[in-house]
Amino acid sequence: MPIAELQAVTKTYGPVAALRGIDLTIQPGELLALLGANGAGKTTAVRILLGLTSPTSGSATICGHAPASHAAKLRRGALLQVAKVPETLRVREHIELFSAYYPKPLPIADTIAAAGLQGVEKRQFGDLSGGQKQRVLFALAICGNPDLLFLDEPTVGLDVEARRTMWKHIRGFVARGGSVLLTTHYLDEADALADRIAVIDRGRIIAEGTPAEVKQQGASTGLEDAFLSLVRQNNSIEEVLQ
Ligand SMILES: Nc1ncnc2c1ncn2[C@@H]1O[C@H](COP(=O)(O)OP(=O)(O)OP(=O)(O)O)[C@@H](O)[C@H]1O
Ligand SMILES: [Mg+2]
Repeated sequence: MPIAELQAVTKTYGPVAALRGIDLTIQPGELLALLGANGAGKTTAVRILLGLTSPTSGSATICGHAPASHAAKLRRGALLQVAKVPETLRVREHIELFSAYYPKPLPIADTIAAAGLQGVEKRQFGDLSGGQKQRVLFALAICGNPDLLFLDEPTVGLDVEARRTMWKHIRGFVARGGSVLLTTHYLDEADALADRIAVIDRGRIIAEGTPAEVKQQGASTGLEDAFLSLVRQNNSIEEVLQ
């Protein structure tokens, strides 16, 4: 059974069709990278799988449960693109608070180490640099020791070393059997981490496969060129259909 699944999902916001019939599965132990231009529908798909918004039609499940159910919430962690946490709470307090919500959280020290937050545990969130804030959000995503992680552009604003550290921890999470849905605009990141890639364009999946297969579909040896070629191809098709 897939750990997460979208079946024939559409989502419209007034005149905007954010998702136009999406099928997506995440298997246990795999990292699926969802790639797409700004506005393609990535965050919308993630928000539906988190139960933060409902599909207009189609269905979404987490381990067979409704995404908004308590059972689903205990099994997943998330780092969202636009996350709001209290500015005056200290780093360690944030992690303690989130960990307390889960039945089998990681030891606090493990979470702090995995997110590279040693030395700033006592600082208030509002006083942290952009990259440090991003690390706190990563810590809050993993502290519950979830089976499934949603990482929506997790490495935005991180320096090279911090990005590589986060990659290491994402790989470690997958190696221990965890599943990940990752969105990123850094295609080297997707190439380095993904078992499978799905390319989304204007609310539709236009290519899917291993990184090697997606490169082949986009007729390029590099993921970035393959991605651009697939999106351009789809643009031409959509223009003809209009
Ligand atoms: N709450 C909302 N109300 C109205 N329109 C929305 C809402 N959320 C998303 N949209 C629209 O749906 C489309 C898909 O947005 P989404 O945030 O899923 O894109 P994305 O692929 O995550 O883009 P980015 O790479 O910029 O994060 C966009 O056109 C966006 O403006
Ligand atoms: Mg987004």
